[in-house]
Amino acid sequence: MIMSYGEWMIFLGPVLFLVNSGQGQECTMIIKNIEYSCSGRNLTHIPRSLPVTVKSLDFSFNFLSSLHRCAFPVLVNLQVLDLTRCHIKHIENDTFYNVKNLTTLILTGNPITYFGPGCFNSLHNLQRLVLVDVGLSSLQIQINNLTKLQELRVGTNNIQSVSLPSFMSAFKDFSLLDLHANNISIIKTDDTVVLREIGRNMTLILSRNKLLHIEPEAFKDIYLKEFHIQSAFVSLNAQKECLEALTGLSVDKLFIGSYRMQSKVKVSNESYLDGLCSVHFNEIYYVQKEFSESEMHLFRCMINATKITVKRGYIKRMEYIPFHRLKELYLGPTLLSTVPRISHIPTLEKLVVRNNIPMTFYGISDLPLLQFVDLSGNFLILKDCCSQFFQRTPNIHYMNFSLNSEIRIEDKPFSGLDLLEVLDFHRTKLVLVFYFGFLHGLKNLKYLDISYTTITFTRQIIFQDLNKLTVLKMAGNSFLGDALSYLLQNLTGLEVLDISHCGIEEIPSISFIGTQKIQYLYLSQNKLMILDFLGLPNLKELSSLYVDKNSITSLPLHVLQKLPTNLSQFDLSSNPIDCTCSQTDFIWWIIQNQNILKQPENIFCKTTDFRATDFDIDSCVHKKRLTIVLSVSFVTVVVLLSFLAYRFQFYLQYCCILLIRYRSPGQQECSYDAFVIFSSYDEDWVMNELMENLENSVPPIQLCLHMRDFQAGKSIASNIIDEGIMGSRKVIVVVSQHFIDSAWCRFEFELAQSRFMMERNANIIIIILEDVEETKTKKVFGLHKHLKKNTYLKWSTSNTKFWKRLRKAILDN
Ligand SMILES: *[C@@H]1O[C@H](CO)[C@@H](O)[C@H](O)[C@H]1NC(C)=O
Ligand SMILES: *[C@@H]1O[C@H](CO)[C@@H](O)[C@H](O)[C@H]1NC(C)=O
Ligand SMILES: *[C@@H]1O[C@H](CO)[C@@H](O)[C@H](O)[C@H]1NC(C)=O
Ligand SMILES: *[C@@H]1O[C@H](CO)[C@@H](O)[C@H](O)[C@H]1NC(C)=O
Ligand SMILES: *[C@@H]1O[C@H](CO)[C@@H](O)[C@H](O)[C@H]1NC(C)=O
Ligand SMILES: *[C@@H]1O[C@H](CO)[C@@H](O)[C@H](O)[C@H]1NC(C)=O
Ligand SMILES: *[C@@H]1O[C@H](CO)[C@@H](O)[C@H](O)[C@H]1NC(C)=O
Ligand SMILES: *[C@@H]1O[C@H](CO)[C@@H](O)[C@H](O)[C@H]1NC(C)=O
Ligand SMILES: *[C@@H]1O[C@H](CO)[C@@H](O)[C@H](O)[C@H]1NC(C)=O
Ligand SMILES: *[C@@H]1O[C@H](CO)[C@@H](O)[C@H](O)[C@H]1NC(C)=O
Ligand SMILES: *[C@@H]1O[C@H](CO)[C@@H](O)[C@H](O)[C@H]1NC(C)=O
Repeated sequence: MIMSYGEWMIFLGPVLFLVNSGQGQECTMIIKNIEYSCSGRNLTHIPRSLPVTVKSLDFSFNFLSSLHRCAFPVLVNLQVLDLTRCHIKHIENDTFYNVKNLTTLILTGNPITYFGPGCFNSLHNLQRLVLVDVGLSSLQIQINNLTKLQELRVGTNNIQSVSLPSFMSAFKDFSLLDLHANNISIIKTDDTVVLREIGRNMTLILSRNKLLHIEPEAFKDIYLKEFHIQSAFVSLNAQKECLEALTGLSVDKLFIGSYRMQSKVKVSNESYLDGLCSVHFNEIYYVQKEFSESEMHLFRCMINATKITVKRGYIKRMEYIPFHRLKELYLGPTLLSTVPRISHIPTLEKLVVRNNIPMTFYGISDLPLLQFVDLSGNFLILKDCCSQFFQRTPNIHYMNFSLNSEIRIEDKPFSGLDLLEVLDFHRTKLVLVFYFGFLHGLKNLKYLDISYTTITFTRQIIFQDLNKLTVLKMAGNSFLGDALSYLLQNLTGLEVLDISHCGIEEIPSISFIGTQKIQYLYLSQNKLMILDFLGLPNLKELSSLYVDKNSITSLPLHVLQKLPTNLSQFDLSSNPIDCTCSQTDFIWWIIQNQNILKQPENIFCKTTDFRATDFDIDSCVHKKRLTIVLSVSFVTVVVLLSFLAYRFQFYLQYCCILLIRYRSPGQQECSYDAFVIFSSYDEDWVMNELMENLENSVPPIQLCLHMRDFQAGKSIASNIIDEGIMGSRKVIVVVSQHFIDSAWCRFEFELAQSRFMMERNANIIIIILEDVEETKTKKVFGLHKHLKKNTYLKWSTSNTKFWKRLRKAILDN
């Protein structure tokens, strides 16, 4: 079967898709479409699924073995390619044809045995080529077309000569040649021809080689920006001779001495470093490993330096050297026991002495340009600081005495140091003889750190002159009484305040009245329980607040609602948060504001190990809802019952009475023959006709009439029931228009019906006094039905037949 191209593509499409989608997971996306990492995935090829837009690809720690033209898909935008330790042995011609636009290529740690003669030819834009530890034995690499190359890093190889290929002299931007840890022992004059032609501003790294000999004049007229020759010589002798041979070399920054920290070496000839005098340099970084019993002339050849950094040294004292350009002196750990007297260096601007052993400081003077003094970490004990120690040094802006032992501060401690902007005493015990005048006159001070200096702050004014102060750190001290209320009032420019770890139990509301620019407030490790000051308008610029490790259980809603609008960092961790349903507002706030809370996972509930963010607010909401629903229903039921009880109070009474009757069922004695229910409008008829005709007849019929027979002092309802309905054998109902309109009559009729219904006896006699519409009879419960089912008497005029029938009905049993 022969397939057309189109059919093939239709057939292959899904297959390719599956492969591609599988490969997508081989690499990690770091920035979508831009940066990917496939590091350490055991891959044997570059995934084809990478987007063509990718700019940076980390493909380190995979298995490629050989690179050729098809090794890379077309990735025109790729600029950075890391192929560290991919077991690459062969790099063929045109390997990088598809990734032409590379600017950085890293091939570190590949055992490359074959570079195709034109393998880098396509990389016209390459700026950094890293060939560290690839078994390179020479710098003669075919990189002719890499005219934009800036850095060539070929450390940890087997290169024996610094000689660069001649075409590199045309590389105008070339600025760094890293040859550390190679096998260079001799540098001949011919080797540096290209270096010299490339010109100025280059960095040359020759550290950790085995230099034995440098031909004199090899570096003549060469200018280097940086020259690294740490641990670059086979011996001290070789070092001395090689340095001497560097005559004519100019270097901006020279890095010499030991490479990192190496074990110390004893020298017998203290002038071992004299070769350095042949080199012109501005800045020198030195890590000394040599030590000697006698004095070492470490600085003798540094006389022309502008900056000296002794990272580590074994000098015991600093000899007198007439430095005439020195601006910066940095002395790391040495064997010096006193801070050197440097008053003879009028050019000095910056002094840093940081030793690991206790030192003495006798003071410095006459340094008009000195701006920066850092004597931190020297176990210093000073009496009567500080003017006494700095005479005629009016330009000091920065003074760091932190991490020392004890400094005693007496009268006018900073007179003559008016320009001070930064003052740091943290973790040095301060003995303030005149607390009041401690910081007197420091009008330019911007930064003050007196944390952990064992000061007890009182109400006395201490910060009165510090109008420009923006950073105040006073953690780890203590406050007497309400000192905090007054202390800060005049620091109107303050932006950073640290009063952590001061045992503060409460922040008085007036504390921050004057300091309305505070942005960072550190209150960690105090004993605060409430943060009501946050609800005041003083801290409107606050952006970061740290109240971790306090005793805060909750923040009330009115404070949460008034938090400064710019607050974006809030550390509430390690507080005993009250996680109960009464604090749902606060916990809800915590859950909602985790973006501004620092370490929200460390905000725990007081009594449990639960995180506040895990608290189940819904359960509180449900409980609340349930309570509301229950109370509402209860109230409704009570209201309803009261209404019903009111509405049907007579029925209730009737029921009660019936119940009482029922409980004491003595045969009811009927004292009347009939109880008459009638409207008072029909009273005339009842008195004149009904009573007249029945009570005066023979035998006389005893009627119960409410206006005559009801007992006084008894409620109407009980009268109706006791006397009328229960006390009579029959009930006569006088139906008229008024009867139907009267609520009382209707009620009595209903009661009567309920009694006789229970006794199943048709003992209700109805007299229709006047015609009533049928619809109206329906208004009275049971009347309409009664009229339909039972016979009734209709009154027209007084006739004996009517009375006879009535009497018969009453006397009938
Ligand atoms: C890579 O392969 C080696 C053995 O060849 C194996 O030990 C290692 O786990 C594999 N790594 C990954 C990420 O697959
Ligand atoms: C190479 O990269 C530059 C930017 O570094 C870009 O302007 C140029 O278009 C790229 N060339 C190709 C062929 O993509
Ligand atoms: C590689 O390319 C160079 C020129 O760029 C050429 O001289 C050489 O013959 C090529 N080698 C191979 C194996 O193709
Ligand atoms: C790249 O270098 C080769 C020689 O290795 C040369 O023939 C070719 O012209 C160069 N290409 C460019 C663009 O410089
Ligand atoms: C270093 O170079 C010397 C010659 O200068 C050579 O004898 C020695 O074998 C080389 N060392 C290594 C490890 O290649
Ligand atoms: C050396 O480099 C600096 C920036 O690194 C540059 O400002 C200066 O002009 C360069 N000097 C020469 C001579 O190239
Ligand atoms: C130190 O070396 C210099 C020259 O290398 C020599 O003149 C001097 O005598 C030596 N000093 C000692 C004490 O060996
Ligand atoms: C210091 O510089 C002067 C010229 O400015 C020069 O004569 C002297 O030899 C230099 N000293 C050292 C130790 O480099
Ligand atoms: C003062 O020195 C200490 C210790 O070196 C350092 O941690 C601190 O940041 C310095 N202070 C200032 C204000 O730079
Ligand atoms: C604040 O400044 C005023 C006037 O300068 C001064 O009277 C007051 O004592 C100062 N208060 C504090 C606490 O420094
Ligand atoms: C909040 O911060 C912005 C800049 O980050 C600032 O412009 C604004 O004034 C601040 N708002 C308040 C109330 O301080």
